[in-house]
Amino acid sequence: MVTKRLLVALFALLPPTQALLRFSCSQLVVERLDPLVNPGLSQSPHLHQIIGGNAFNISMDPTVAPPDIATCTTCTFAEDFSNYWTATLYYRAKNGTFKRVPQKGNVNFESSNGGMTVYYIPKNVNGATPGAVTAFKKGFRMIVGNPTYRTEAQAKQFRQLTYTCLQDSMTRTGETLYFPKKPCPAGIMVNVRFPTCWDGVNLDSPDHMSHVAYPSSGTFESNGPCPSTHPVKLPQLFYEVIFDTTKFNDKSLWPDDGSQPFVWSFGDKTGYGNHGDYVFGWKGDALQKAMDTNCNINCPQLKTQSIAQANKCVQSQKVKEDVDGWLSELPGGMPVG
Ligand SMILES: *[C@@H]1O[C@H](CO)[C@@H](O)[C@H](O)[C@H]1NC(C)=O
Ligand SMILES: *[C@@H]1O[C@H](CO)[C@@H](O)[C@H](O)[C@H]1NC(C)=O
Repeated sequence: MVTKRLLVALFALLPPTQALLRFSCSQLVVERLDPLVNPGLSQSPHLHQIIGGNAFNISMDPTVAPPDIATCTTCTFAEDFSNYWTATLYYRAKNGTFKRVPQKGNVNFESSNGGMTVYYIPKNVNGATPGAVTAFKKGFRMIVGNPTYRTEAQAKQFRQLTYTCLQDSMTRTGETLYFPKKPCPAGIMVNVRFPTCWDGVNLDSPDHMSHVAYPSSGTFESNGPCPSTHPVKLPQLFYEVIFDTTKFNDKSLWPDDGSQPFVWSFGDKTGYGNHGDYVFGWKGDALQKAMDTNCNINCPQLKTQSIAQANKCVQSQKVKEDVDGWLSELPGGMPVG
């Protein structure tokens, strides 16, 4: 754990020569759709919050590039029409009703709708080297994490799917695999880091996972090698999602047994079911070019738009349902447990 904390601390203090894309994407829509796990199904079993291009749909044909059909994106890199999504978080009151926890952006990424901060990291030391990573290709998709997991042993099969209990907006230490057990003064940040090694052939797989893998030893940050089965090194894709739990932090609102009151939209109150989904949708080779260039956060070779502009890109729920009132059950009737 010490090593991991050290790496996280180093990560927060990246020198300016460090190459990395870090950008804001506002919320596109909150609804029960999942074109990866439940294509064609309206509605999916649990609720998601989705960011990115407005080609997001009930089904998404991998042979159609999102930039070819999207008309806007919620991301500040305007050539990124990818979709990124996670579940949503609910507060469960003592009387058993549920209220969705609002999201908020990182400092300087304050979009009106929360959204996420997205990272693509080409290499962790000495800046980028052209070809150090191979950008995702048209049609690429993947999922990390498993919503049915409820134990630490299960959660450990995925590396770096964690929670940060924000003492203030800059807290970047003390990541856990489970939901924070105490009130977090500045909210709960969910960290979703995807595997970084690809089989080099399949853009997707039946479980949306087996075409990618973790380094065979070490981590992406420590430049761990990719296994021979998955030899192609991908950028580290990483989401930060901040849930603004502050209005539920009063201990009188917490269960009398002292347990924490937050539950994922798929009914998990442990946190071990943390997961995230990705559908690649950058225009042309914009992402590869950015990865090959030593640009840090600001990437002059990429087209950008303001957060205000990104906020204008929204979809309405395809199937209307109340997700924000005080609800007697989780959307879709997902049981807690
Ligand atoms: C979503 O899919 C439906 C059915 O295929 C189609 O009619 C609609 O135009 C699509 N919407 C978007 C935003 O692509
Ligand atoms: C349940 O508790 C919440 C939070 O205290 C409150 O806002 C809500 O009105 C209550 N609902 C019912 C049905 O009592």
